[in-house]
Amino acid sequence: MLHPVVLSGGSGTRLWPLSRQNQPKQFLALIGDRSLYQETVLRASRLPGAAAPVTVCSDEHRFMVGEQLQAVGLANGGILLEPAARNTAPAIALAAWHLASRDPDALMLVLPADHLIEDEAAFREAVTHAVGLADAGWLVTFGIRPDYPETGYGYILRGDPLDAAGFAVRRFVEKPDAATAETYVADGGYSWNSGMFLFRAARYLEELERHAPVMADAARRAYADARVDLDFMRIDADAFAASPADSIDYAVMEKTTHAAVVPVSCGWSDIGSWSALWSVAERDSDGNRYEGDVISIDTTGSLVRASERRMIATLGVDDLVIIDTADATLVARKDRVQDVKRIVEQLEAAG
Ligand code: GDD
Ligand code: MG
Repeated sequence: MLHPVVLSGGSGTRLWPLSRQNQPKQFLALIGDRSLYQETVLRASRLPGAAAPVTVCSDEHRFMVGEQLQAVGLANGGILLEPAARNTAPAIALAAWHLASRDPDALMLVLPADHLIEDEAAFREAVTHAVGLADAGWLVTFGIRPDYPETGYGYILRGDPLDAAGFAVRRFVEKPDAATAETYVADGGYSWNSGMFLFRAARYLEELERHAPVMADAARRAYADARVDLDFMRIDADAFAASPADSIDYAVMEKTTHAAVVPVSCGWSDIGSWSALWSVAERDSDGNRYEGDVISIDTTGSLVRASERRMIATLGVDDLVIIDTADATLVARKDRVQDVKRIVEQLEAAG
């Protein structure tokens, strides 16, 4: 059976001031009426043969996850609460134990909670194709054709074809520097790693054991000592604290000899920043996206989001991001929004 596993532990600091620690971006209705988390679980529920989704998230967000699942009418296949964030490799290991302990052949489809997919049929087709490879023991990633040298993604070099849809991975490089990313984009043989993965839960645990044994052991004990609390599964804090923090990309995908890639063209985007949100949102003929009560004259290429508290007016400005909330307003040049996280760091340092 195919078990969607939704990773929902990130904090989304580049979408400040809307995204906050107690309400990170995956739980916000950034586009449309549903949150990215809700869109993700709904999309997963429409895959053929999909079981109820497993969510791995911070203890702090448990009620939000429960309410958001209920609001879209989905059962939960487990809500695993992390006592502390240890990045994606241990989070996925918890879900893998959860599934493998019930079904040794369980397939898990790992989905970040904060992505947008425009062409759901193409996504579904790619997942369906990947099932055969995952059943055969491959750790499958979904490759996206890169269109600029993004340094925040992983890059995958395709090797030999494995079947009609997939290729062995010749090389997996997580977050290369800018010069390297440029050579990869120019090369033509590389895909971006979408951050979605499909594999047998038991296979992931074997590979983790091989490449990150301390982490594998900590996650095993943390899951074994978990405590059921209402609808939630509280992961054991002491055991989980012993796990090193690392992503699946560095801890497993760069190292395993059993990675495969299925290329997919599904209108994928990672809503990582305000400019990414602007680029996928519907815009007027001047390239503006407005939300709420906004008046603008001679304004182009901007994203302006008013809060319920007040109207925003712009005049003679281009390429800005203006986001108002009850207690903070961001005004930034659109090409600088990657650095919004620096504001959050400064706020955190100031206490
Ligand atoms: N439960 C849980 N716990 N989830 C987590 C944790 C954690 O400790 N850390 C991150 N996540 C979730 C995030 O909320 C997000 O949905 C997903 O895992 C990926 O984490 P990111 O922190 O957003 O990773 P990234 O964007 O730097 O890189 C990954 O995604 C890129 C594509 O968006 C990598 O897989 C790259 O290779 C990939 O290109
Ligand atoms: Mg991300």
